Amino acid sequence: MTIDKRKVVYQIYPKSYKDTTGTGVGDLRGIIEKLPYLKELGIDMIWLNPFYPSPQRDNGYDISDYTAVHPDFGSMADFEEMVAVGQDLGIDFMLDMVLNHCSTEHEWFQKALAGDKYYQDFFILRDQPTDWVSKFGGNAWAPFGDTGKYYLHLFDVTQADLNWRNPHVRKELFKVVNFWKDKGVKGFRFDVINLIGKDEVLEDCPVNDGKPAYTDRPITHDYLRMMNNATFGSETGFMTVGEMSATTIENCILYTAPEREELSMAFNFHHLKVDYKDGQKWTLMDFDFEELKRLFHTWGEEMSVGNGWNALFYNNHDQPRALNRFVDVKNFRTEGATMLAASIHLSRGTPYIYMGEEIGMIDPDFDSMSDYVDVESINAYQMLLEQGHSPEQAFKIIQAKSRDNSRTPMQWDASLNAGFTSGKPWLKPGKSYTTINVENEKTGPIFRFYQDLIRLRKELPIIAEGDYKAAYKDHDKVYAFERVLADEKLLVLNNFFAEEVVLELSDEYARGQVLISNYPTTKLAKKVKLQPYQSLAILVQ
Ligand code: GLC
Repeated sequence: MTIDKRKVVYQIYPKSYKDTTGTGVGDLRGIIEKLPYLKELGIDMIWLNPFYPSPQRDNGYDISDYTAVHPDFGSMADFEEMVAVGQDLGIDFMLDMVLNHCSTEHEWFQKALAGDKYYQDFFILRDQPTDWVSKFGGNAWAPFGDTGKYYLHLFDVTQADLNWRNPHVRKELFKVVNFWKDKGVKGFRFDVINLIGKDEVLEDCPVNDGKPAYTDRPITHDYLRMMNNATFGSETGFMTVGEMSATTIENCILYTAPEREELSMAFNFHHLKVDYKDGQKWTLMDFDFEELKRLFHTWGEEMSVGNGWNALFYNNHDQPRALNRFVDVKNFRTEGATMLAASIHLSRGTPYIYMGEEIGMIDPDFDSMSDYVDVESINAYQMLLEQGHSPEQAFKIIQAKSRDNSRTPMQWDASLNAGFTSGKPWLKPGKSYTTINVENEKTGPIFRFYQDLIRLRKELPIIAEGDYKAAYKDHDKVYAFERVLADEKLLVLNNFFAEEVVLELSDEYARGQVLISNYPTTKLAKKVKLQPYQSLAILVQ
């Protein structure tokens, strides 16, 4: 199964995209309404975060029914219409499959709790908890009713891990995947899929909160191959991506090399931890450029050599906006947004655009803890206070790190609530919406630059298919790489700083042709000057 490497994916957080009913929650009809806008941008596929029935403890990642639409988002008929309208416009859908865990309100868990042995084996129950820490804080085990046993929840206490060792569980989950495949979707994003393989005997693991005990276990590869063969494996034009938590390059090559028949590509998060002090998320630190560059180069080169495939991204619904993390957004928002875009869209892998990125959206700049709704942020705030931070310090950290930073409503125009809803939005829009919104930005430089990058990937095989090679590896301001395809070469220079930089080009690049830049194109010479946050791509044919 090989994929079409010219494609670009756009991620929509349905809850925050467009509300057509005045409930304050985005819906599927809102997405239908905005498909022509996305057509104009030029993307090929839309990844939708979960819209299934769910108590919404973790915004839909706690699913209580895998094969229905939560009424807040619309109906199954709306879903079918959305897929059909998309098809007419050449836009496919990729659905989020949360198969590591389900909500404790799911019928399987409820039946298990009521004593049904068949369903008890759907979950991971033990007489004694291990010392593993939940990713949302606290121990990862909770009492299973009054049975004296404990169930595993690597995430919230209402998200019970499913027992993939049980063939009945796998069969049920593959049925879910096929249900949506038969509805005409052309892709899946598998939530925390490298955590599904748990050992038979679970043991304490004091290292790294217990992660090594359940991350990237060898059996996970077997499960992925089984799923591939039982569901999407033989479909043409299908794209699958696994969200890989704390993973390794070796494993991602195995997950994604086509001959392995597992997945098409993998998200890893190492490059989004370069502003974590001592590897801890709930801290404040400027990003470490050297580390970012090193990670891009090692992943770029090793995946290229190993025939693996990366999903390329800076933003998603779990990350603060990249513009606030990696660039001087006050002074160089446009230059920074376009430079970041070039640094991944011209690289090797499939680029993902998170809603609002194409108009340069930034963090919302909330004023108080009461503006946040995310369960992880609320838990983290308590944890920070317990660790001895003052309320002001703790709030500053939440402001910079909360997942709600990217979950605020899409900014469509300058009208009340950013044109997202006529009701009361479930999460407040960012303060910037009066100026940063689609109406203003659609004819502006950021949106146009994204259009150009998407078009170039379709036109130039070297962007879609070329190998990746690090360039100017030791430069302290510029992240640069080459793409190579047969006799063609493309050099991509990205100045990650607000200062000018002068670089020496090789003779062949000095005579090359400027393919794209986010500054008015300069004539090439042996010495080339990069402006603050300039990207410059030079083609040699
Ligand atoms: C993934 C999702 C995140 C969710 C978690 C648990 O990391 O992206 O939003 O909270 O899995 O399902």
